[in-house]
Amino acid sequence: MPDVLISEHIGGAALDELRSQFDVVIEPDLWRDPVALQDRVADCRALIVRNQTRVTREVLVAAGRLLVVARAGAGLDNIDIPAATEAGVVVAYAPEQNAISVAELSMGILLGLARRIPSADRSTRAGGWERQVFTGVELYGKTLGVVGFGRIGFLIAMRARAFGMRVLAYDPYVSPDSVTVVESGAELVTLDELLARSDAVSCHLPSTPETRGFFDARRFAMMKSTAFFLNLARGEVVDEDALADALRRGRIAGAGLDVRAVEPPAPSDLNELENVILTPHVAAFTDEAQERVIAAVCRDVANVLGGRRAAYFVNFAAPRTTRA
Ligand code: MLT
Repeated sequence: MPDVLISEHIGGAALDELRSQFDVVIEPDLWRDPVALQDRVADCRALIVRNQTRVTREVLVAAGRLLVVARAGAGLDNIDIPAATEAGVVVAYAPEQNAISVAELSMGILLGLARRIPSADRSTRAGGWERQVFTGVELYGKTLGVVGFGRIGFLIAMRARAFGMRVLAYDPYVSPDSVTVVESGAELVTLDELLARSDAVSCHLPSTPETRGFFDARRFAMMKSTAFFLNLARGEVVDEDALADALRRGRIAGAGLDVRAVEPPAPSDLNELENVILTPHVAAFTDEAQERVIAAVCRDVANVLGGRRAAYFVNFAAPRTTRA
């Protein structure tokens, strides 16, 4: 029976190191089959997942020997944390290890929208040389609105400042004297003010029952018709039909989505719109970020299985279970 079960694609040097200490089984497609997952997890002491495996109450009940669930990333919406906590299972994760990569792709997509890079590329490859068509706008002097001012929001704010942008931030859990606000020079404002004043709105909200469909028709209607909208956080926080409608009617100027309500998404109107950039949830997928993420979770799995405390945990640092 394995010590560690991995139900998605994960690799790298830190994993090799974990394998030298423990019996590790990798089943990269196991996340697709919840019944098989419940079966395989029954004997293992650690489960490592990305965002596709649903670690439900049923999975946790089936996992009678489990000590730790390690999430190779920051988002925790695929893990039933109350159920893990009730079971005494440590939930470890990588809360900041990929934040730089997400901030960098956000700036990349924003530049792509402002300068229409994907469309210009497609046109040129097709033999075009449409210099008058692909006029863009500068970021310099524009206002970026960051909704959800955590680690990633802060890193984007710092990068936007380097481009000469003003930064507005909305986050009910952040105070004006917090170091991220002071250091970035962001102006904390109400959501309505942010939507009305921003030339680009970047969403950094987690997916919770309260944030589902947060960006809806009413909120898109409050934005400038020249504004861009970015979502590299979680797909569920955006009403995609409302977004497609706002883009089609010219209520906003463009959108960049790295995440979708359902992943992989079904074909949608968004695919047909020229002023949309779509990427397949890859903001965290750089060599450097993945090395840090995998190292953090493998280290914490080894910590917990070795009777030591996890460094990055959501509920507790050591198991509170009498499981074998
Ligand atoms: C994260 O939550 O860290 C990123 O969205 C990447 C991922 O889901 O694995």
